[in-house]
Amino acid sequence: MKKIGVFTSGGDSPGMNACIRAVVRTAVHKGIEVYGIKRGYRGMIKGEITRLESNSVSNIIQKGGTILRSARSKEFTTKEGRREAYEQLQKFGIEGLVAIGGDGTFTGANIFYEEFGIPTLGAPGTIDNDLYGTDYTIGYDTAVNTALDAIDKIRDTADSHDRVFFIEVMGRDSGYIAIPCAIGGGAEIVMIPETETTIQSVVDTLRTGWDRSKTSFIVIVAEGDEEGNAADIAAQVQKTLPYMDARVTILGHVQRGGAPTAADRMLASQLGIACVDGLLAGRKCEMAGIINSQLVYTPFIDTITKQKVINPYYIEMVNILSV
Ligand code: F6P
Repeated sequence: MKKIGVFTSGGDSPGMNACIRAVVRTAVHKGIEVYGIKRGYRGMIKGEITRLESNSVSNIIQKGGTILRSARSKEFTTKEGRREAYEQLQKFGIEGLVAIGGDGTFTGANIFYEEFGIPTLGAPGTIDNDLYGTDYTIGYDTAVNTALDAIDKIRDTADSHDRVFFIEVMGRDSGYIAIPCAIGGGAEIVMIPETETTIQSVVDTLRTGWDRSKTSFIVIVAEGDEEGNAADIAAQVQKTLPYMDARVTILGHVQRGGAPTAADRMLASQLGIACVDGLLAGRKCEMAGIINSQLVYTPFIDTITKQKVINPYYIEMVNILSV
């Protein structure tokens, strides 16, 4: 293999730039050409492809976002769109790809290989940490620390005003961000999609705390929780406990930006190298990840279909520590 392409796709995450840098520098180190594809599959279809050199990725390791931009592409879900993408890659002689993204990105890469034979290796780039095949995804650690910083600040004002705050954190289908935010942020309650926490149980916990003279509370709600969003949950709780003063904060996309933490830079660099090494060794349709400090390659199909399980003890920890 003499020419490879790299792109970022789906929701951006802090550390994507560090990963791009690692891919480019590893390729240069191995004497192969590397091309940056802008805006994920959408840019691939349009031919937004440029040669990257070692100095193209200077001074980006510390930056949030992605210099290659990111997008979610509808066109690539059609065979016609994928054919156009293939033709663009052919123009540049690109024989293999490194995709930095999440399960949607890897689903596309799998189909692309079956239809057009272009091998892809993936690096897990999502703040959600919901990908099977790695203990941590690139951007997760930064997102959690960003959220925690905000939660600490909210705690100050919650305490001053004797209020209960419902803080919504990201995680479309998962509570991975919510759990360390709740434990590290000293929350009384955490609500995540993986386990059921009813409105009634939230009311009970808050009432018990209130009766024990607690005056301020933090409830962390993962955006994908089955009971609804933080605003809906807060409104229902407030109705039952009118003597409590409830407020809602949605942390939103602030969690997706900012300089990556040391842990994310390290992970991104390691996995970027592993993707290029893997491609050159003939691997395809796999995601590089780290499990128990060991580098592992997991088939895309497993990263998409298997569920990474949250240790239920973490919920118990929130209960124990909020007594
Ligand atoms: O997958 C990452 C993520 O940030 C989720 O936590 C969130 O639900 C989603 O992306 C938001 O997507 P968008 O930026 O397209 O609104």
